[in-house]
Amino acid sequence: MNSKDLFSPLQLGPSTLTNRIVMAPMTRNRAAEGNIPQEMNRLYYEQRASAGLIITEGAQISPQGAGYPFTPGIYNDEQILGWKKITAAVHQKGGHIFIQLWHVGRISHPSLQPDNALPVAPSAIKPDGDAFTYNGPQPFVEPHALEISEINNIVDDYQQATRHALNAGFDGVEIHAANGYLIDQFLRNGSNNRTDEYGGPPENRSRFLLQVLAAVTSVCDSQRVGIRLSPLNSFNSMRDSDPMTLFSYVVQQLKPLKLAYLHVLEGSMSPLPEGDEIFDYKKLAALYDGIYMANHGYDRQSADEAIKSGTADLVSFGIPYIANPDLVERFKADAPLNAPDQASFYGGDETGYTDYPFLSS
Ligand code: PHB
Repeated sequence: MNSKDLFSPLQLGPSTLTNRIVMAPMTRNRAAEGNIPQEMNRLYYEQRASAGLIITEGAQISPQGAGYPFTPGIYNDEQILGWKKITAAVHQKGGHIFIQLWHVGRISHPSLQPDNALPVAPSAIKPDGDAFTYNGPQPFVEPHALEISEINNIVDDYQQATRHALNAGFDGVEIHAANGYLIDQFLRNGSNNRTDEYGGPPENRSRFLLQVLAAVTSVCDSQRVGIRLSPLNSFNSMRDSDPMTLFSYVVQQLKPLKLAYLHVLEGSMSPLPEGDEIFDYKKLAALYDGIYMANHGYDRQSADEAIKSGTADLVSFGIPYIANPDLVERFKADAPLNAPDQASFYGGDETGYTDYPFLSS
């Protein structure tokens, strides 16, 4: 019998992962000034290298892609140099690491943008709430609706960032198409009311994503390109009127691209309005015949069951990885987990970042 569990290896393109446990991408706001990855970031990822795969926090593909303080970029030489130290440290420990390529779109603020420009989006629709700026929370503004030439420039930025990522030694890239950031803003019709070829039916709203994937896979083996989706996540004022139809279409389009994996946040980071919580993730996964990575609320047992039953090939863990650098070893030993300290999730220093104890200590 071909039995597999959380601790079984998995071939991901050219990478042999030693287990099915993935560190999910998580914004921690601890890059150095200039959005440059620094020494404490190197230590943080190195500590977590026993994960089958690490997916980094979102890294902006351009200065325009930034929406928060102290998030790392992958658009200049100093940033590439910072990331090189991180990939080398993870590889030295036998781990694998993908970088998440990020453009926040409207989830930004002029004070975070080059020349204090308006943040950009498919449509001039303002999200609710506040942006996190270097001067604290500031109300979101109505974004600038992208013109076609500007969309094409952003596609080029994704391609350039992918070249940089390969240069920096990453095993692959994850295209962040989830959680209400730019690509997701195009996908879902709550944030996209365009009347051109980028708006309207799912084919049009998926156009930007598919252009990004074409540009990225023209410079990087598709087996090293993953994608993250979040069909229902209402975080960042997101909604779609028919998510099953939209994301079924998206996944059908992904199939022939033979990507490394499809990573799905199966739920919502913000409460969902009544009636909106229904989505058949199993059906979505079944439409996709490649490697499926499940995320959101899994623990050791439910993750192991998902792998054993074939519902998922990989499971990613977010918050448990903040507090447990040796999550794999703890799961193996069925040992208790360290409790995460919420207050130090976003920003700050080594406290709550690289000082969580290992089992052995
Ligand atoms: C966040 O900063 O809260 C955040 C960033 C990226 C995500 C989700 C949440 O994909």
